[in-house]
Formats: sequence, structure tokens, C-alpha cells
Amino acid sequence: MLTLNNEHIVKDTDPRLRNKSEPVPLPLSKEDREILEAMLRYVRRSTNPEWAQKENLSPAVGLAAPQVGIFKRMLIAIVDEEVSEDNFVTREFALVNPKIVSHSEQRCMLANGEACLSVDDVHEGFVPRHARLKIRAYDLLTDKVVEFRVSGYTGIVLQHEIDHLNGVLYYDHINPTDPWAKKEKDIVIE
Ligand code: NI
Repeated sequence: MLTLNNEHIVKDTDPRLRNKSEPVPLPLSKEDREILEAMLRYVRRSTNPEWAQKENLSPAVGLAAPQVGIFKRMLIAIVDEEVSEDNFVTREFALVNPKIVSHSEQRCMLANGEACLSVDDVHEGFVPRHARLKIRAYDLLTDKVVEFRVSGYTGIVLQHEIDHLNGVLYYDHINPTDPWAKKEKDIVIE
């Protein structure tokens, strides 16, 4: 069984993180499936403090294959989504060849900016994202091509991970001259 830990994480000091990753042939090969399953295991286990310490994981809501040195279009996201007030549902995504099919003009961003397993330096500022979007991908968890809508925090996490597949990092989106600048219609998520 392939096991991933923090020793596998490629940092942004490594220029390979700027590579554009390759589309993955479908049906998934055994090897690609094992990689994605190992990534899923990393993210699932990373948010349990005891396992994280023992297995050398850092708490993560998402992970893209290039972050573990595999330049293929595959990603994981595990997000606690607020469905009604104080009522959360955990949504897991294990996606291959994800594509943003359509998106809102309206933007949203996290009030405190973003962070990344591959980035050790602090980069403060808003990271504007599409507030709502539709994604098409092959989904490992249901073994089929899926198309779904996401918004808000879930959409932000997925856009962050899709960016990795294109060699883009969250701080590329921060306004260099006015990091906390926003437009009137932007949604700021606390
Ligand atoms: Ni990241």
C-alpha cells in the first residue's frame, strides 16, 4: 500500500510545483487509483491530531497530486459544508481531470486569506475565487463522471486544488499593491 506523509510534500521552493499537470487516462490505471487513494488517506487522517502526529501529516482540507510530486490531474478535497445553521455535512471529493464548466461573475474569498501545505511563508491578503461554479470530473468515490455545483468555502477549496494542477498557487491571486482590496459585490467568508 502506498503511504504518503509530509516527506512527500513538494514545497513552492521547488520549481516543479509550477508545472502544468497531465490529463489522466480513463479508466483509471491501478497505479493512478493507488495514488489517489493514498492522497485521500492522507487528507482523511490529517485532521485527526493523534494520527497526524504519529504519521507525520499536516492538517489539510485538500491535496493535489503535484503536491506529492505526481504531475497528473488528480485532487482530493474534504470539506465540512454548512447546510443550515450549525449543521455541517462532510463532503469528500476524489477527482480526476476536474474541469470548471461554468462559474459566477461574483467572487468570494476567505476573510483571513488561504494557506497551503506546499507554502511555508505567510502570504496575507484576499484570494478572490468564483463564488459559485459547476465542475465536471471523474469521481473515484462513485467511479463515474460527475457534474456538480459548489459554492462558498467548498468552491474555494476545489478552486485552490484545481489551481495546483495548472501550476498556480494561491498567492498568485493576491493583489500585490493592495492585498485586502475587494469589490462591493464580493462575498467575504468568515
Ligand atoms: Ni495548496
